Amino acid sequence: MADQAFVTLATNDNYAKGAMVLGRSLRNHKTSKKLVALIGPHVSEQSRAVLHMIYDEVRLVDVLDSGDMAHLAMMKRPDLGVTFTKLHCWTLTHYSKCVFMDADTLVVSNIDELFDREELSAAPDPGWPDCFNSGVFVFHPSNETYGKLLQHCTEHGSFDGGDQGALNSFFSDWATADIRKRLPFIYNMSSIAIYTYLPAFKQYGANAKVVHFLGNTKPWSYTYDPKQRVVRGDIQEASTHPGFLLEWWTLYSSCVVPMLQKEYGEQPFHSGCEELPQCEQAQPLISSEERKQRWEQGQADYMGVDSFDNIEKKLAAFLK
Ligand code: UDP
Ligand code: GLC
Ligand code: MN
Repeated sequence: MADQAFVTLATNDNYAKGAMVLGRSLRNHKTSKKLVALIGPHVSEQSRAVLHMIYDEVRLVDVLDSGDMAHLAMMKRPDLGVTFTKLHCWTLTHYSKCVFMDADTLVVSNIDELFDREELSAAPDPGWPDCFNSGVFVFHPSNETYGKLLQHCTEHGSFDGGDQGALNSFFSDWATADIRKRLPFIYNMSSIAIYTYLPAFKQYGANAKVVHFLGNTKPWSYTYDPKQRVVRGDIQEASTHPGFLLEWWTLYSSCVVPMLQKEYGEQPFHSGCEELPQCEQAQPLISSEERKQRWEQGQADYMGVDSFDNIEKKLAAFLK
């Protein structure tokens, strides 16, 4: 349907990488909907060019910032004030219905059936399930709603400093009014659930349709060795499922990096893909659960992550 669209947002080049992968993943799973990327003025020309190749529409919007440092600090994410920019999605009135998706989401199965739902449909937030997570939601663009939302934000602010707090107090009957507006968790499966409820992840995780890399560490915070197909990074911070992370990097390195490289030409561009010499290779990323299991089985990685140096550093951090 030409008047229905998936919408995302990127205010900088890092989130633009996420938007590129998300767009590719939607296309790979054969969506019949239009794709729209909202971008801020700081997104580079090169990133814009690549977004234009993947998305039907790339729209420049003003960056709205809650500026609410007190609430953002409580959430330990001073960077999320700009997520208010998301609210611009209600101004896309040339579409009758849209699905907003964070740039740190990845589609692993066709999700066009989401357009059967009405505003405001979303999945529960894993941290506080009576609130919805605003990383994936169905909405009806409307200038009237946009105006009311801005007014609401001006009058009441946001309890988390970002869009999610404001949207939850605006659509305050989400949890109680209509069960069809409560999307199954598989439409916004944040990797945090893997750690908070592993048995449920083992039972239902294979049905996931959208993976959300929620939290401080994003897929683009890691590096990747395309030859060995290994994602590398600080294992302490890994808050994601290595399989989904690998899926993100596979898509990014094979489809997105070549397009970016073409746009950057001779100019420096940091893709995050590395090919280190054999002897310098860092440890492949394993989940902390897997690492714990190995440790318990007596397979500590004495030369790598479990080295005495690392244990000493950890102890020093605790003592501080
Ligand atoms: N975002 C952005 N620039 C920023 C921060 C956020 O464009 O500096 C957008 C992006 O679409 C992102 C969304 O706002 O996915 C929400 O932020 P994030 O995903 O980092 O929040 P989380 O899901 O980790 O709470
Ligand atoms: C969240 C959501 C994200 C939102 C942020 C700020 O945890 O995942 O989409 O932008 O909070 O409210
Ligand atoms: Mn997110």
